[in-house]
Amino acid sequence: MSQVTPITEVFEAKPQEKLLSEYRVAEFTVSTLDLEFDLFDNNTLVKATSEVQRTSKHSEPLFLFGEQLKLVALMVDNRDYSDYQLVEGGILIHNLPDQFTLQITTEINPQSNKAFEGLYKSGDAFCTQCEAEGFRRITYYLDRPDVMAKFTTKISADKTLYPALLSNGNLVAQGELDNGRHWVSWADPFPKPAYLFALVAGKFDCLKDTFTTKSGKKVALELFVDIGNLDKTAHAMLSLKNAMKWDEQRFNLEYDLDIYMIVAVDFFNMGAMENKGLNIFNSKFVLANAQSATDQDYLGIEAVIGHEYFHNWTGNRITCRDWFQLSLKEGLTVFRDQEFSSDLGSRPVNRIANVKIMRNNQFAEDAGPMSHPIRPESVMEMNNFYTLTVYDKGAEVIRMIHTLLGEAKFQQGMQLYVQRFDGQAVTCDDFVAAMQDASGIDLTLFKRWYSQSGTPQVNVSDYFDSTQNSYQITFKQKSLATADQKNKQVLHIPVNLELLDGDGNAFDLGNGRRHQVLSLTQKEQTFVYKNIATKPVPSLFRDFSAPVKYQYAYSDPQLLHLIHFASDDFSRWDAGQMLFNKYLLINVLQKKSNQKMALPPVFIEAFRSVLISDDLDPALITDMFEFVSEAGAMELFECVDIEALHHAREFMLEQLAIELKDEFVSAYQNHQVTGDYQPVSADIANRKLANLALLFISRADPLAANKLVITQIQQSDNMTDHLGALLAANRGQLDCRDKVMSDFEDKWHHNGLVMDKWFSLQATSLDSAVLSNIKALFQHRSFDFSNPNRLRALVGAFVQNNPYYFHASDGSGYQFLTEQLIKLNEQNPQVASRLITPLIQFKRLDEHRKQLIKEQLNRLLQLDNLALDLFEKVSKALTQ
Ligand code: TRP
Ligand code: ZN
Repeated sequence: MSQVTPITEVFEAKPQEKLLSEYRVAEFTVSTLDLEFDLFDNNTLVKATSEVQRTSKHSEPLFLFGEQLKLVALMVDNRDYSDYQLVEGGILIHNLPDQFTLQITTEINPQSNKAFEGLYKSGDAFCTQCEAEGFRRITYYLDRPDVMAKFTTKISADKTLYPALLSNGNLVAQGELDNGRHWVSWADPFPKPAYLFALVAGKFDCLKDTFTTKSGKKVALELFVDIGNLDKTAHAMLSLKNAMKWDEQRFNLEYDLDIYMIVAVDFFNMGAMENKGLNIFNSKFVLANAQSATDQDYLGIEAVIGHEYFHNWTGNRITCRDWFQLSLKEGLTVFRDQEFSSDLGSRPVNRIANVKIMRNNQFAEDAGPMSHPIRPESVMEMNNFYTLTVYDKGAEVIRMIHTLLGEAKFQQGMQLYVQRFDGQAVTCDDFVAAMQDASGIDLTLFKRWYSQSGTPQVNVSDYFDSTQNSYQITFKQKSLATADQKNKQVLHIPVNLELLDGDGNAFDLGNGRRHQVLSLTQKEQTFVYKNIATKPVPSLFRDFSAPVKYQYAYSDPQLLHLIHFASDDFSRWDAGQMLFNKYLLINVLQKKSNQKMALPPVFIEAFRSVLISDDLDPALITDMFEFVSEAGAMELFECVDIEALHHAREFMLEQLAIELKDEFVSAYQNHQVTGDYQPVSADIANRKLANLALLFISRADPLAANKLVITQIQQSDNMTDHLGALLAANRGQLDCRDKVMSDFEDKWHHNGLVMDKWFSLQATSLDSAVLSNIKALFQHRSFDFSNPNRLRALVGAFVQNNPYYFHASDGSGYQFLTEQLIKLNEQNPQVASRLITPLIQFKRLDEHRKQLIKEQLNRLLQLDNLALDLFEKVSKALTQ
């Protein structure tokens, strides 16, 4: 056992949490900021000239945030000024007039910046990442989102190495300098918070296009990628134009500058960033062609390009008052990108994908030590709150408002929101007020979703009175205490309900309505329906109308009925999930007590009927067979038996594979796509089902699968099918596995993004040598520990998606992750803090594993330079 420092001591030694309740209006504000960058790898000079005003009568000093800066000069109203103090986290400037010009020169080192926050080098290019609080690593500034200024940016750099010099807004001037350098200057006419600032300098290939807005304004579109990657840019550009058009049509929102630029970089902590007029993207969400990207990659690009574009209104024109309000822009923008993908592609498939994220990941976050409401009340490190809760549960909350208001009133609410708050930094309350005022629908109770954490549970029971033809259905809601919040309130929960008769037709719920959105607003509520002739099967939470766990004692035949007849495709899928989970729980118990595991015929027949159904979209058939992930299934237990869960789940998949082998073989044959690769819904759906079938065939008939895999790789013209074959080879441990894996490596080792798929396959292998293989791969020619994408592909995939080995009872998985976190702690704490997730969500594990994990967490806590990002999570995990 390692030495344990008492937790209270550690808390005292570390900075305090910041509280939403302590929000105060800034004492100074900035109207304009003129930036001048003289770019050099190790010593870039930044001259920042701002016009600053006191916001009220007071004589406080001016505090400016600043981190890792070297102060070179400070002037007030053009005179050297020395009445300042450098303090922890910034600078205090004393005895200032009410209004003044402040000029600060700092020196920074982009080359040594491996945290990828502030100004850094991604490969040969300079780029920035300022959200949430990275601007303070560029210059001393009032780095808070409610301080909005008009920015101009002048950049000078070597002309051959950095022909492209980019920043926000419109290009206003450029010129030549001595020593082979040149300069460009940009002006952004829209006041903005510092987190939306961006600068890029580099040598790129550029794809140019234009978009004409509905009011006839011509916008230049420019997409910058590393030299040689132009053949992978078409889909991103198409997605951008689709997003611009869609936002005009559905939300009546038009683009506002003359130019929209996107730069793809290889070193990036997150997906992408919505900097005004100059988005910076992880190259993963830009680059795609048929050979190197899968259908999922294409869809991911569409979603992220859309997401960042939609931020121009929901985030940039209207931004957040403070970071506690992050969901104001993120929840809303995720909702918008989900709708975009649903309108362009398959709505049910998108809905199911969103719900999987909630159930497989967000629910666990909400039940773990980092549990927080979508509008957190206390934060140590803001970077830790770019969470599934703020983003995805935040989007679910917006979606519930949409469900309660309907599309028309929701859009009126959006128009009012934009009218009222354009150009301002506002709160979640402001958003809800606009929705309420425009619709006339009372959202007072509903607003609790913003302040209450945890996943509510809804238990449903019913009673049918055949003498009265009356049906009553009772809902009981409860929310368990979470790590951050003991007392829970009743929430306003919308339940989209349908009642099916024995033939699968929906009963009339009054006035010809075949389904209805009920509002639960009390702990317990009963609804009564008259004129119901036979006992109905209720279809509950259609379209996942609320982010809750719900429970109703469905019999197997009732679930089968829903699978066949629910009018909502999501509900059909959900019934299949419930059937699977029911037998997963049963078989885990069997396995634990060394009893024989089994599946009843009705289970197999339910899925057989799905597989051979000709009214279901092949994409949906595939989804029906994509069950709760092993990691996600941990949420189904109070205390989870890792081994029993793994074996029970594998057993069920294998039984399905064996029993439905012929149907999978037919599905494989019937869903082959002919013709050139196109990332269109129908083809995507067919490839998805064929590759799923191949995966099941590999479990039931490895010899047949081996042949199919080899042929598929030889004949495929696209990465989707190539990867589908590799996945089957790995899952089924097929004879061809080593060969097809090494051929792939041979072909793609120069392409990091493609190799990420290969690294992830290695990391999720069920071979008992998986961990030593992973360790060996750190030396692989395509691996780079400092690249977040590579790390997530190898380490992230192992810890998230290989729970059986990550949770090995000897603690080797925990120890391995901890060692990586120690290495990352100084270099890139943001990425470390994301990778740690499965190590802090241990409450459902057995005592033995909990103990092993706590030892590792304590090891982290002993580090004398533990980053705040990790400290916040580790300390919360140890005191939960
Ligand atoms: N605002 C970005 C988005 O949602 C998120 C983001 C990108 C981010 N890079 C970041 C957040 C770095 C924190 C740190 O699209
Ligand atoms: Zn976002």
